[in-house]
Amino acid sequence: MKQIALRAAEIARQLKERTEVRPKIGVVLGSGWGGAVDALAERSVISYESLEGMPQCSVVGHAGNFVFGKADGVDVVAVQGRFHLYEGHTTETAVLPVRILSELGVETLILTNAAGGINTKYRPGDLMLLSDHINMTGMNPLVGVRPSSAYPIFVDMTDIYDPTLRNIVEKRCKESGICCHEGVYMQVLGPSYETPAEIRAFRTMGADAVGMSTVIEAISARYLKMRLVGISCISNMASGITGEKLTHTDVLREMDKLQRKICELFKSIYKDIAVLA
Ligand code: HPA
Repeated sequence: MKQIALRAAEIARQLKERTEVRPKIGVVLGSGWGGAVDALAERSVISYESLEGMPQCSVVGHAGNFVFGKADGVDVVAVQGRFHLYEGHTTETAVLPVRILSELGVETLILTNAAGGINTKYRPGDLMLLSDHINMTGMNPLVGVRPSSAYPIFVDMTDIYDPTLRNIVEKRCKESGICCHEGVYMQVLGPSYETPAEIRAFRTMGADAVGMSTVIEAISARYLKMRLVGISCISNMASGITGEKLTHTDVLREMDKLQRKICELFKSIYKDIAVLA
């Protein structure tokens, strides 16, 4: 298998041949975050299938496309389709889309996901801005990466989620009437959902929400010196909180309800970020 940096560069080269758009803003879409793509005009879609060396997506709700588009004249690229560790992908593959975005010139990255609410003040349909994270996967995407003076592997993780970007999203949520908390996200390996005992333990550890993505990508994005913001949509209350059983279909159904609001929110966020850049 080729080194991850080389794989990403080769796929980015194919993308650059097929689009003139050179976005500085990228967004990785979690389950049910399609509204962030609906916010884009003049869209061009490049499927994973059509790119040599790109793995394929297998999870329902993850289409497998790069979508290039504009929000109020601002270039944006959206990644529709993650590679999860629970599918058996390596950390290298899990961070491949982030690496590709970095190769394309993306400097600001928005990571989105669906998550189970651990904090009992949260409700399904609320958003949570990531203030920090806990990596419970036991894995790290920087293991085995060759250190260099430009990209040291002992990366500082303080304020990994940019405070200025967090303020922007918080303000825009308030204006749009979206309930948005700030909290700590925990990534677990999955694919099984957690037990009620695990959720109690995770709450004691300081987690407000739990999911199966994002942290591994955030570590890689930080290493690549990208400016980051992470947003969870609380699609369900975590195991044992309401006594209801968890299903992926229920997670997607809850996310579906929010699309129009997410679309409006992202239109304003893209514009604000472009002004910062
Ligand atoms: N647990 C883990 N991952 C999730 C959940 C959950 O409750 N909801 C959405 N993704």
